[in-house]
Amino acid sequence: MTTPASTRQLLDWYDRHARDLPWRTSPADRALGVVPDPYQVWLSEIMLQQTTVAAVKAYYLAFVARWPTVAALAAADDEDVMKAWAGLGYYSRARNLKKCATTVAERHDGRFPDTVDGLQALPGIGPYTAAAIAAIAFDRRAAVVDGNVERVLSRFHEISEPLPDAKPAIRAAMADLTPNDRPGDFAQAVMDLGATICTAKRPACGVCPWMADCRARASGIADQLPRKAPKKPKPTRYGAAFVAIQDGTGAVLLRRRPPKGLLGGMSEVPGTGWHEEFDHDTALSAAPFAANWQIRPAPVNHTFTHFHLVLTVYRARIPAGLEAPHPCWWSHPDELPGEALPTVMKKAVQAGLGAD
Ligand code: ADE
Repeated sequence: MTTPASTRQLLDWYDRHARDLPWRTSPADRALGVVPDPYQVWLSEIMLQQTTVAAVKAYYLAFVARWPTVAALAAADDEDVMKAWAGLGYYSRARNLKKCATTVAERHDGRFPDTVDGLQALPGIGPYTAAAIAAIAFDRRAAVVDGNVERVLSRFHEISEPLPDAKPAIRAAMADLTPNDRPGDFAQAVMDLGATICTAKRPACGVCPWMADCRARASGIADQLPRKAPKKPKPTRYGAAFVAIQDGTGAVLLRRRPPKGLLGGMSEVPGTGWHEEFDHDTALSAAPFAANWQIRPAPVNHTFTHFHLVLTVYRARIPAGLEAPHPCWWSHPDELPGEALPTVMKKAVQAGLGAD
């Protein structure tokens, strides 16, 4: 197969403009023979699923500093991994991260499989992530298609069909352009183009390395692609959160969510389930103690993938010496920042602790 001229153009651009990202082996280093560490590629790709590069950087650096190898992560305490992941969202990723590290350490001698199929058999690795790791870490010719790639290629080939129906055509376009040599750099080049030039709202077509051959640019519709099927509106659910503050110590009562499901295994303040309707009296029956519960002035709003959540936050001061009801625990102010609290629960704690 001969490599398309567009592929070469983009790799040349990448050699000059690749973003400096902490998990990335730069094109200059690759040319000198430096090979990427599959553990680092895997970790970054799991974090980058559904999370922006800007949000991932600090978490990635903290993880590799603390757990520099897959064996180190496999040996880590589950709870420490959940705590280190707190705030990144989509917590099933953290649970699968740990499972995957254990599988690689115990069943693969600490080495990641180097094929798409081998990678996809591991926990938490779907078709996209398997292709990305195979291409970036092992130079396998796999077509890597994420949201950036969808945007860039739907424009380059002027694919006007709305997503998700456009996916097969976009995948085929990426497969045709992906070279035998440097498939990982090519995937990252398309991602960088999408992140820096071919942006969603205002593509900077005037400085794009693919300007001359971009069909959407020629038609003047680059900023209108990719088209998307209309989204279903998200429902709103309501619930209550109880911030119990221990007199004297300022400790806050926490408990762990069940291991499976939304925010599974993460910590939270006690509360109700989240439903279509809200009733104050029913909510109070879920309080961890009978106490003088006061509603905080502003509810917590949080948006998940499939619904908006409005949490009414109650707080009460609890006399020192009252034991935490099983299976809750008192988290003292110096421990609270390190707890495995998802963002919605950080907001609830903040609302509960806030000044009147
Ligand atoms: N998004 C997903 N994977 C990425 C990567 N390797 N580099 C930049 N952005 C990404």
